[in-house]
Amino acid sequence: MKTIFSGIQPSGTLTLGNYLGAMKHFVDLQDEYNCYFCIVDEHAITVPQERLKLRDNIKSLAALYVASGIDVNKSTLFIQSEVSAHTQLGWMLQCVSYIGELERMTQFKDKSQGGKEGVTSGLLTYPPLMAADILLYKTDIVPVGEDQKQHLELTRNLAQRFNNKYNDIFTVPEVRIPKSGARIMSLQEPTKKMSKSDTNQKAFISMLDDEKKITKKIKSAVTDSEGIVKYDKENKPGIANLLTIYSVCSGISIAELEEKYKDAGYGIFKADVAEAVVDTLKPIQERYDQLIHSDELDDMLDQGAEHASFHADKILKKAKKAMGLGRVRKK
Ligand code: TYM
Repeated sequence: MKTIFSGIQPSGTLTLGNYLGAMKHFVDLQDEYNCYFCIVDEHAITVPQERLKLRDNIKSLAALYVASGIDVNKSTLFIQSEVSAHTQLGWMLQCVSYIGELERMTQFKDKSQGGKEGVTSGLLTYPPLMAADILLYKTDIVPVGEDQKQHLELTRNLAQRFNNKYNDIFTVPEVRIPKSGARIMSLQEPTKKMSKSDTNQKAFISMLDDEKKITKKIKSAVTDSEGIVKYDKENKPGIANLLTIYSVCSGISIAELEEKYKDAGYGIFKADVAEAVVDTLKPIQERYDQLIHSDELDDMLDQGAEHASFHADKILKKAKKAMGLGRVRKK
């Protein structure tokens, strides 16, 4: 059975983008693959975090995974910092990464635009840690949204570089990006991706927003003055984004939606997009409310960390040996 690994940062409540681009697909993969899903808290601290808030976000993300349909009897769900092999291999992979290639990562370039004095070195060395996450489990496939593509290319390069230089230890993973929903855009600036760290609350839908908030945000989504519901990413990015959201939430194709709304105004269209989003998120929110204060979640995460550590430690041991770290005891 092939192995899947993916991770999400607990850096705020997840957005509809995280759900449609990543989490929704994780649920569908569980029956076919050996799956690992991680709450990557060590990635979250590459930017400042408030201690108690981070702790809440970790728990909340765990509850969202389960509420969205991750079944811990089928998949391994765990917190990155509870499996120490991640930072250990992360360090080893930093030592096979070049500063130049890390500085070329778009996410690093974007976040360090204001100057390098104000960003942590963790932000630069984040991709080798992400590579470690993936390589520790002999991962075959990594399902992610489009923004992670470059990090995955680096992971593949690091795996190949390590294998060539030391020993053939790592599986070189493939990236899997969904055909639609891989890049959900901001509701206020539809040429920018929807992000949980956006300072404008109207720009994103949180997975825990209630019906009223969702409807209000979609109603105020930036569109254009043409009044025609048509998918045209270049000239009508706002409508194209809403069509994508509607289509992925409802399962109705974009062509069918264009036909359905060909004589309708944006008002009616937006009301229906909001309804489709509410219908998608409501059942998840109901399960979330039941889970968030239960002990069940802690048990699931304990079990996940134990299982993940068992497998990760085996690969870590091989990688250390290949690099010449530690000792080999004479018999
Ligand atoms: P993160 O936490 O930013 O996002 C989690 C997942 O959500 C996807 N995503 C989106 N998809 C569509 N539209 C959007 N607007 C949107 N925003 C986010 C992301 O592509 C991602 O799949 N570096 C990763 C976390 C990570 C990881 C890993 C992922 C750490 N280790 C190992 C895979 C494998 C990140 O910051 O994702």
